[in-house]
Amino acid sequence: MDHLPTDAVQWDNHDVATEAARRRSFAIIAHPDAGKTTLTEKLLLKGGAIQLAGQVRAKGNRRRTRSDWMKIEQDRGISVATSVMTFERDGLVFNLLDTPGHEDFSEDTYRTLSAVDAAVMVLDAAKGIESQTRKLFEVCRLRDIPIITFINKMDRDGREPLDLIDEIEKTLALDVTPAAWPIGEGRDFLGVYDLLDPALRMLVDGGDNHIRLSGLDDPALDGLLSPGGVATLREQAGLVEAGCPAFDSDQFLQGTMTPVFFGSALRDFGVGHLLDGLARLAPPPRPRPADTRMVVPGEANLTGFVFKVQANMDPNHRDRVAFLRICSGRLEKGMRLTQVRTGKHVPVNAPLFFFAKERQVAEEAWPGDVVGIANHGTLRIGDTLTEGEALNFRGVPSFAPEHLRRARLDDPMLAKKLKKALEQLADEGVVQLFKPLDGSAPVVGVFGLLQLDVLTSRLKVEYGIPLGFEVTQWDQLRWIASDDRDAMARFTRAHINDLAEDHDGEIVALFASNWRRQRMEEEWKAIRFHTVREQH
Ligand code: G4P
Repeated sequence: MDHLPTDAVQWDNHDVATEAARRRSFAIIAHPDAGKTTLTEKLLLKGGAIQLAGQVRAKGNRRRTRSDWMKIEQDRGISVATSVMTFERDGLVFNLLDTPGHEDFSEDTYRTLSAVDAAVMVLDAAKGIESQTRKLFEVCRLRDIPIITFINKMDRDGREPLDLIDEIEKTLALDVTPAAWPIGEGRDFLGVYDLLDPALRMLVDGGDNHIRLSGLDDPALDGLLSPGGVATLREQAGLVEAGCPAFDSDQFLQGTMTPVFFGSALRDFGVGHLLDGLARLAPPPRPRPADTRMVVPGEANLTGFVFKVQANMDPNHRDRVAFLRICSGRLEKGMRLTQVRTGKHVPVNAPLFFFAKERQVAEEAWPGDVVGIANHGTLRIGDTLTEGEALNFRGVPSFAPEHLRRARLDDPMLAKKLKKALEQLADEGVVQLFKPLDGSAPVVGVFGLLQLDVLTSRLKVEYGIPLGFEVTQWDQLRWIASDDRDAMARFTRAHINDLAEDHDGEIVALFASNWRRQRMEEEWKAIRFHTVREQH
């Protein structure tokens, strides 16, 4: 066990451990339209974070109108920005990290998922698993993130619950354990039977009515539903109890089993049940691997990593906010942290907490929390911050972009300005930036072409640089690595015109086509070609 904390580390600090234990940091993953926004609103309402349903959306609109480049989001009806929402309920602090739904911004989503301890997967009861659900699920699987499933829109005609469970099991290769069983469906949807903690949860106007029972055999059940309804429930829930695996905490924490909740976000049904599930089943922050050792949340010393950088959250201050996920220790206002990559000191004079309505200065924050640190471009995605210890968290990924473009600048006088602007935007993760080793103009890499629109708009509005893009001679790229230094040197010499440095100085190989890449990979067995690079 070379990952045990060393003697030099002060750990198991009671306050920190206690505070960490009451944190639940999670994200919602869903295919667009499954109901993520509606569910978010209802979750925040339950936590008292907002007063009126609709504010998440309203706030989104307000925010979008604030800055020009965000017009793109508004025009296209998508949310580009990832935000963090914190709310408290029954002594627990929930941090909900929101993710953009549009697939062109999937890299942002992947990075956000590196900062959560659990995910809620929302499915539309009529549609089941959709393409984007599947992709996002795969990222969760890569990181062994425990997943709670919420089958939404039960108030509408949907598919058979057993059919949906079967689909989750088969397409995602997960063990599924229903946490509840629906009673009726569509217009006749009455509520659910709670299988984990026997009770009826009946749909009533504005929420659910919770009636405790001793089990399916409880005679009280006969007085609560019609005779036919009771018989069907006893039969179906009995079959499910007998036929589906029981909830297994270890399996859930390893990400191989998902408990399934049913509800209707729109009718505010099942949302409280889901929150109870998150509170009881989802884990608090867990030990996290760094390059030198395992970091335990209860350690007294602060550690954390930046998973997102966002510009212009406040148009009055042209600042950038780095989102820091705290992994251990206590963050106090006024602390000076060390940016491990550069050894520089970063003062944290006004760490920001984000609520649905506004940001607030935090006096302190704990493992599992996310705070915003305003800075002028010092902090980058993937940066680790500590109180001085030289360790780096792994796991904020960079994916090989799907599209490569060369910036076309009509006014050469702006070249220097463009270089700086592109570097800043690459720090934020808006695009990836690659500098060809032959000295030619930088290449930008994106996942979806919509990212190029955001880039063009931001360059124009924020930096005053009009810009076009042209296709390059390359179609794809891979990060390269090898244990054989000679082979690496030979490869580099032979392909110098098809190599570039990424934003962190790592070398990538560029290829004109899939076919060229495959040939190269066959030819150079000593070189490893990676599609994902974990930033550090
Ligand atoms: P998203 O963020 O995942 O994209 O989904 P969103 O919450 O925006 O929901 C998509 C649509 O589905 C919305 O309808 C929303 O009202 C509806 N919806 C969400 N949850 C439920 C539910 O539990 N039951 C039913 N019946 N509908 C639900 P819309 O007409 O597209 O938008 P809106 O005009 O209602 O805002």
